[in-house]
Amino acid sequence: MKITISVIKADVGSYPGHCQVHPDLMVKANSILDEYKKSGQVIDFMVTHAGDDLELIMTHNKGINNKEIHELSWSIFKECTEVAKGLKLYGAGQDMLSDAFSGNIKGMGPGVAEMEIEERKSEPILIFMADKTEPGAWNYILYKMFADPFNTPGLVISGAMHQGFVFEVHDLIENKKIELSAPEELYDLLALIGTPSRYVIKRVYAKNNEIGAVTSTDKLSLIAGKYVGKDDPVMIIRAQGLFPAVGECLEPFSNAHLVAGGMRGSHIMPLMPVSEKDNHPTRFDGPPRVIGLGFQLNNGKLGKAADLFNDVSFDSARKRANLMTNYMRTHGPFMPHRLPPEEMEYTTLPEVLEKLKERFQKIE
Ligand code: F6R
Ligand code: MG
Ligand code: MG
Repeated sequence: MKITISVIKADVGSYPGHCQVHPDLMVKANSILDEYKKSGQVIDFMVTHAGDDLELIMTHNKGINNKEIHELSWSIFKECTEVAKGLKLYGAGQDMLSDAFSGNIKGMGPGVAEMEIEERKSEPILIFMADKTEPGAWNYILYKMFADPFNTPGLVISGAMHQGFVFEVHDLIENKKIELSAPEELYDLLALIGTPSRYVIKRVYAKNNEIGAVTSTDKLSLIAGKYVGKDDPVMIIRAQGLFPAVGECLEPFSNAHLVAGGMRGSHIMPLMPVSEKDNHPTRFDGPPRVIGLGFQLNNGKLGKAADLFNDVSFDSARKRANLMTNYMRTHGPFMPHRLPPEEMEYTTLPEVLEKLKERFQKIE
């Protein structure tokens, strides 16, 4: 039987400011999904949050881009928006860019990552959810996981992975996609994904076409044409066997690499891997955070979730992220802490610059 895993998320209000999702929203989403589970519309689900983003993890057998699943997610976000408004939460309904549902939730504000799989004899699934960053933040992580033998020894010593992987890369500006094969086209791949604000890894496949990874690539700013919030991304990974081991999947997060999207969606900051309990960006609205949940799928049932970064072995990554934050903060409003101008185009900066336009004089 084919199983679809859908992770659909939206920021529909948080407290205080953009810190975290209010428990009442989670209760609401849980109770609605409980009904959908009873009526058989979803096989299983889990509601969680990454900072101020409400995350719906669902399994079903309706395939990806399914109207029913997208519509029910939309209606959950709508109902949670009402709860958020009732509590006067900050940014209530922020990611709901449209008034009415039109068949597919993509492009309407919420972020979506979905994969349809034939469940293996044993199917470890890892779901990563980040706050205060953008979909391109996964580029470095996925490259290390699926293409870097210094991260993933399986690429060298496991016959199952030795042939490498295929990366589907999306150009978010031109709305085009390309497939590149690693290791054969590694340098071409890097030439693109080294620009994570534009080129984003959408999917990774084993060479036998089995899907191994999928990300959300919804850039809210590009959808709305102006800054309306962050595009805080999610990602689903299949681990073990044909794919990297759980430890190989987690290893790239130990670097706390620099990502875009901190404070006002306008700053470069380190990505800090945290356990669920530390999942609320506070200092400088950050640092950007990522949580990871691990499941052993069982005929579509999620089973018990493992809190992947709830581990002392990630303490040094967290320490590093804090030290990096200290250092980056010393730059104040200067690049490269602040994003380059092209990436500030959809923020609130252009309005400020507009005011100065008239005062510029020609240099003789
Ligand atoms: C939102 C985010 C925050 C906000 C900042 C300003 O997830 O990244 O850093 O951009 O708190 O928010 P507003 O403009 O709503 O006052
Ligand atoms: Mg918010
Ligand atoms: Mg967020």
